[in-house]
Amino acid sequence: MALTDRDLVSIRDLSDSEIEAIFTVADDMMRYTRTALTVCAGRLLATLFYEPSTRTRLSFEAAMQRLGGDVISCADAKMSSVAKGETIADTVRVVEGYADVIVIRHPLEGSARVAADYAGVPVINAGDGAHEHPTQTLVDLFTIRRAKGAIRGVRVALCGDLKHGRTVHSLVQALARFGGEMVCVSPPGLEMPPAMVESLSAEGASITQANSLDDLIGDVDVIYATRVQRERFESEEEYERVRQAFRITADLLSRARRDALVLHPLPRVDELAYDIDDDPRAAYFQQAADGVPVRMALLGVILGAVEASGAGAPQRPEPREVAGVRCGNERCVIAHEPYLTPRFTGGDGAPLRCAYCEREAST
Ligand code: NCD
Repeated sequence: MALTDRDLVSIRDLSDSEIEAIFTVADDMMRYTRTALTVCAGRLLATLFYEPSTRTRLSFEAAMQRLGGDVISCADAKMSSVAKGETIADTVRVVEGYADVIVIRHPLEGSARVAADYAGVPVINAGDGAHEHPTQTLVDLFTIRRAKGAIRGVRVALCGDLKHGRTVHSLVQALARFGGEMVCVSPPGLEMPPAMVESLSAEGASITQANSLDDLIGDVDVIYATRVQRERFESEEEYERVRQAFRITADLLSRARRDALVLHPLPRVDELAYDIDDDPRAAYFQQAADGVPVRMALLGVILGAVEASGAGAPQRPEPREVAGVRCGNERCVIAHEPYLTPRFTGGDGAPLRCAYCEREAST
């Protein structure tokens, strides 16, 4: 199946070859980020953002406009019918009548999958709760690949809130597939979900855990810092306890490799000191800028306006109902949208996972 008309909910919705094909187009798009192409003239993107965003929404909107297309936007859920109780399924079925592609960000895990299931136009996940953020991963890989030439063998320290950070949940899967080596560094309690580490290790990925960046900073090619995700904490006290847990300072960076790369999906809070901004290794603003060519490429190929030759579209296992099994995740869309039927993938020796949030199911 070609990339045209495809949804992008999880980074696993793209094969390696399709990701490479998008990067080839994105390399080309680098030349057009300050011009006006016409390949998407007459096409409309709808952005539905139910959580704050600066980079993701603006870079999608800039990308669509640079391609010659237009954007309609529902930037603030409080201003939309959600405030009146409209469901995701209804909202996207309305919006598909207005736009050719939908980009959605929503606080519930699995919400983008629901949007994709119900919308008759392609849906791109711009972050569904703590679950995934696949387009940020495309941007992250693109920036690494441009700086390092390839992903294979690149050693990446993933730092910060690896429990709640959706960018790292998509990124580890992609790094594993492309042969990157990962070290997870997080304050106690904010570790990468163990099930994720176990399944990546079982598939042969190089993924280890460490308590502090101090000892290993001289040993990595990329330092990928993340914000402690305040909005995903149960209480403010719990957040305050860990918010200062780690910080990249000029002093710490002085021990990093000369060709290391410091990345961050942004926004930063305390984890990147401002005095590293002028260090040539600080690449997070370049990374944010790379969001435009990457999203131009993605929108262009999904809308069928640009040719891309990726192969091997992944087959998603068919989700099914399983008697006596439920998703115990309160932050899953299934717990909030009453028309949905619980469905699961896996079984036959593998753990059953909720088809929406992908957490392990409870019995
Ligand atoms: C991230 C997000 O929204 O998950 N931001 C982004 O899209 N660049 C990271 C974050 O909010 O910490």
